[in-house]
Parts: sequence; structure tokens; C-alpha cells
Amino acid sequence: MPPAEPLQWRADGVPHSPRFSDIYHTETGALAQARHVFLGGCGLPGAWANRPQWRILETGFGLGLNFLTSWQAWKQDPSRPSLLHFVSVEAYPVSREDILRASARYEELAPLARQLADQWHGLLPGFHRLAFEGGRVLLTLCIGDVRPMLRAQRHFEADSIFLDGFSPERNPDMWSPDVLKGVTRFARVGSRLATWTVARALRDGLQQLGWQPRKLQGLAPKRDCLRAAFEPAWAVR
Ligand SMILES: C[S@@+](CC[C@H](N)C(=O)[O-])C[C@H]1O[C@@H](n2cnc3c(N)ncnc32)[C@H](O)[C@@H]1O
Repeated sequence: MPPAEPLQWRADGVPHSPRFSDIYHTETGALAQARHVFLGGCGLPGAWANRPQWRILETGFGLGLNFLTSWQAWKQDPSRPSLLHFVSVEAYPVSREDILRASARYEELAPLARQLADQWHGLLPGFHRLAFEGGRVLLTLCIGDVRPMLRAQRHFEADSIFLDGFSPERNPDMWSPDVLKGVTRFARVGSRLATWTVARALRDGLQQLGWQPRKLQGLAPKRDCLRAAFEPAWAVR
């Protein structure tokens, strides 16, 4: 099995990637970021109310904090969909210990992280299906580089898309036109996309693909974040 991706833990508890010289989440905390930028940007949990299923596609699984926050929001929502399916792409999986360490500061997430850690092994390149809550929460982990993994993923409709690479300057592969095209292939009319960066190239790229991007108030220290609705001017097959 390939060695786990090494992290550095800063004195303030924020995990840092030596490979990309960037942090895994904002200093304000992963839980606040996941709720405000990703779930909030996609109108969740309200948008999934009373739906039979909800499918989220994410680029960059990292420490699994967006997944754990989505699972926790699902768990405590009386109007939750019967099935939550979270599909996430990750080229450099971290260790089980780092998954546990990252979530330990969030009381709501720690018990779920332990369940994730129990299944966090044997993550060779390829697709892995993890099941929780008696199969009502599914996690498909696509281990490999984002472009080929998106291409190889069987088609499904993503109701929400979380773009969570490191910063576009340090991690351009996660924001390339090909990746934007790759995720758009899974969008249905009305799908929502959310991310923490409002980089011009990203907004323009999304717009060309049929997304209507809008800046929203960000979470400190960031001024803005981005949400987009898939509303192409052309008919989608
Ligand atoms: C900001 S972190 C994601 C944080 C994560 N969403 C969470 O909730 O903990 C970005 C992630 O993108 C992954 N990544 C970077 N380049 C990649 C690539 N080319 N293909 C797939 N994953 C990549 C990194 O390894 C890292 O885990």
C-alpha cells in the first residue's frame, strides 16, 4: 500500500500540506467552513428536504471534514433524504491517524470520524465504496488524480458539487478547464456548486459551461466565497 500523505500540524491546529505549501482549511475551522461555504453555498440542508436521495460530488477529500459535516447535517435533519451519497476524488490519501486528529477538535464530528477511520484502510488507487448508517450514507472514494478519476467515474447526477482543491495558484490541476468540464458532466439543471475561491478564471470557466456563479459573503479571513447554479442557456441531454 502506498504511504499515507504526510501532513504538518501548525501550532494553531491547522493542518498544512508540505506538498502544496497550503492549508487544508481556513483558520476559522473546518466545520464552520464546511457549513458556510460548502453546505451553505449549495443551500443545504434545506435543498435536500424530503428528497429520496441526495448526491454530492467533491474534488479533494483531504481530511474528510466536508464529508463528515454533510453526514452530521444529514443525521440531525428530520427532513433528511433516505440516502446520502457522497462521491469524492483524492490523489493523496492521508493516514487514519490524521483523519482522527483533524476531527478531534469538533465534538459533533469526532464520533463519525471514528466510524470513517474504522473503514479507512486499503485505499489503493481506484474506487472504494464505504457504507455507514446501515447503508443510508454511502461514500465513494475515487483514489487517483482528479482528471482520470472523473473520466472513469460511472455517470450519476450530482445534486451538489463541492470544489475543494488547494489554492488555484498552488494546485492548478484541481481547477483546470478539464476538471470544470469533468464535474459539469455530472450536473443536472438546478445542481448547485460551491467553493471558497472566487478566482476570475474559475468564474469565467464555470459560466462558459452553463453555470451562473455568484459571489457570497465569505467566512473570515476570506471576504467572499462562490456559489453557482447550473442553468445553461442550452438544452441539456
Ligand atoms: C483543501 S484539501 C481538501 C479538504 C477536504 N475537502 C476536507 O474536507 O478535509 C485539497 C485536497 O485536494 C487533493 N488534491 C490535490 N491535487 C489533486 C489532484 N490532482 N487530484 C486529486 N486530488 C488532489 C489534496 O491531496 C488535498 O487532500
